[in-house]
Amino acid sequence: MRGKRILLGITGGIAAYKIAFLIRLLKKQGAEVKCILTPSAVDFISPLIASTLSGNPVGIEFWNKDDGSWNNHVEYGLWADVFVIAPLTANTMSKMVNGSCDNLLLATYLSMKTKTIVAPAMDLDMYAHPSTKRNLAQLELDGVEVIPADSGELASGLEGEGRMAEPETILEAIELFTGKSNNDFLGTKVVITAGPTYEQLDPVRFIGNHSSGKMGFKIAQEFLDRGAKVTLVTGPTKLTLENDQLDLIKIRSAEQMLSVVQNVWSECDLGVFAAAVADYRPKNQATEKIKKKSDDLTIELVKNPDILNWAGEQKRDNQYLVGFALETENLKENATKKLIKKNLNMIVMNSLKDSGAGFGVDTNKISILDNRNNLQSFELKPKEAVAKDILDYLKTYIG
Ligand code: PMT
Repeated sequence: MRGKRILLGITGGIAAYKIAFLIRLLKKQGAEVKCILTPSAVDFISPLIASTLSGNPVGIEFWNKDDGSWNNHVEYGLWADVFVIAPLTANTMSKMVNGSCDNLLLATYLSMKTKTIVAPAMDLDMYAHPSTKRNLAQLELDGVEVIPADSGELASGLEGEGRMAEPETILEAIELFTGKSNNDFLGTKVVITAGPTYEQLDPVRFIGNHSSGKMGFKIAQEFLDRGAKVTLVTGPTKLTLENDQLDLIKIRSAEQMLSVVQNVWSECDLGVFAAAVADYRPKNQATEKIKKKSDDLTIELVKNPDILNWAGEQKRDNQYLVGFALETENLKENATKKLIKKNLNMIVMNSLKDSGAGFGVDTNKISILDNRNNLQSFELKPKEAVAKDILDYLKTYIG
């Protein structure tokens, strides 16, 4: 973190007091820190504390009334290596989503040239409200990294989800982002599968699953950040990713995913298969909408190709293959069978029995088993940190 420039945006929530600790942690790591407060944040943390701990003047208004100078939001945007908004209130969140710009912090967010990381904090009902969920999802789509709120005692006296993540967790996310310039996968060609597959039944219906694509997209982002050239083959998802080293190929069915993988695998050094591929598809696809007739409807299914299995069969000695295993029972036993049968180097296990792991959520709890019989388990973490763990493990494995 030495010399990294961290811009901290502080909004008006009770958790703002914890930011004093975050500033201390960042300074101890050798980072440069500047703070911007919204006008209401000054009710929760004094600008004097923020400026004394950071060693820099604090920006609050566009104008410094004393000397007539102005706080230039564009310069803040150019200065920062990362912009961290913590705590993020529901109010500022909704303004960010809508591109509102009625204070210095929001103008700076819109001018930002680099990543914005946010740590929301609010009462549990506010955090659970559909509009909050919608706004957080939109921020993620806009490329903002969201550190999910913790569960626990809240300032209101209630208990539940909504507490700002601890300063140590926020520090970890900042370190993760700022430390990503080591290019240790520079020039490596990787194919990644992500998301669900949709197996069409008729023009309006399909068989699918709950995969959001988040895990696969985070892995793709991590490879790109570390210098790799990535082909990301994804089933239907709301996510987007742009990078000049990325070839993003959107498919719907398992057969389409297989066909893309077959085109690129021989050119790749690595494959990471995080997609939740439907094991079966309808034998016949109706050309017209299936009409409601009798009480029962039987749909005949046929087996889909196993894409990972195909890649394992073709794998050369200088290629590395990572599969995922999503299980509800006998996790290690089933994963071991897949590791061997599909000729994998590593398998990443996640279980739907672990809360916060698997489909849809922003976090995951994984264990990695490799074909040298090593097993390592990790804590529940944001999927971005999980992606980093997978790449770090892979780097050590390849040697
Ligand atoms: O997308 P998210 O919402 O972020 O959720 C992430 C995830 C839960 C989907 C991800 O972490 C995960 O576990 N992906 C694999 C899900 C799965 O289908 O597991 P499986 O045990 O059924 O399959 C084993 C492996 O074979 C997987 O690597 C899978 O991609 C691959 N496979 C399976 C069947 C098939 N026909 N072709 C395949 O390539």
